[in-house]
Amino acid sequence: MAATTKVKTVWITGASSGLGLALAKHYLLHGCKVIVSARREGELKHLQHLYPEELSFIRFDVSKNEDVERVKAELEQRTKQLDLVILNAGTCEYLDIDEPDWDLFERVNQVNYMGMVRSLQVCLALLKKSDDAHLVGICSQAVQAPFIRSEAYGASKAAVRYLLDSLRLDLAPDGIAVSCILPGFIDTPLTQRNDFDMPFIMSPEQAAHRIETAIEKRVYEYAFPKRLSAVLALARLFPRTWLKHNARKR
Ligand SMILES: NC(=O)c1ccc[n+]([C@@H]2O[C@H](COP(=O)([O-])OP(=O)(O)OC[C@H]3O[C@@H](n4cnc5c(N)ncnc54)[C@H](OP(=O)(O)O)[C@@H]3O)[C@@H](O)[C@H]2O)c1
Repeated sequence: MAATTKVKTVWITGASSGLGLALAKHYLLHGCKVIVSARREGELKHLQHLYPEELSFIRFDVSKNEDVERVKAELEQRTKQLDLVILNAGTCEYLDIDEPDWDLFERVNQVNYMGMVRSLQVCLALLKKSDDAHLVGICSQAVQAPFIRSEAYGASKAAVRYLLDSLRLDLAPDGIAVSCILPGFIDTPLTQRNDFDMPFIMSPEQAAHRIETAIEKRVYEYAFPKRLSAVLALARLFPRTWLKHNARKR
């Protein structure tokens, strides 16, 4: 836990449920000061009630430009610097190609990709004030191979991956480390709606533990579980076989 004990202030977006909530609890248990954000104030208040000393929250809808200045000001009131930022807020909607809802591309993009850009706008100055800063973005194993109905979700996460890769180069002179995390299936409200098999699914706590270990080691890109990474590597090597087995059934 060496690097974790060094982390003083952590900001986590999308911490009202699922992976973000598990990560927030994880860093609280390791003695960090944690600031959480999401839209559902009731969930965040409940968390603050459980950890009144160490945790505070700022309501933030990452899809709204009008939230940016307020959240930036509130964050700057709460802390002088951010040592670790985990940009985790995300959503998923699947495309029905027979009756396409074309607006879902905009909705998903405004949360997953533009939401990460807005969050960056909020936190970058505070990250630059830490002498041990780390910016972490939650991407997805979906970027490793195509999945049916994932046109919007997968594309938004591919954009997230490129954003983080590029930021790593631009922020290196400022001493800010950047990591991109590619989780496989995690049992959260996001996936509890899914009606298909989710191989190697794990609990949010198991995923948070793996992510914390990768963060501690300052891994550039961390994809897990490895068994899913191996399947998706085969999909890239043998795209025709992947198509044969994964094409949409009529
Ligand atoms: N579960 C998986 O299998 C899986 C796999 C790969 C990657 N991921 C990624 O992991 C991240 C967390 O997802 P999860 O599985 O933990 O799902 P989740 O339980 O649904 O959590 C999503 C979080 O994002 C927040 N959020 C959604 N829209 C938002 C918005 N407009 N503004 C601010 N916050 C917003 C939600 O809070 P509010 O609703 O309160 O705003 C919630 O706290 C996402 O980026 C997801 O893409 C998940």
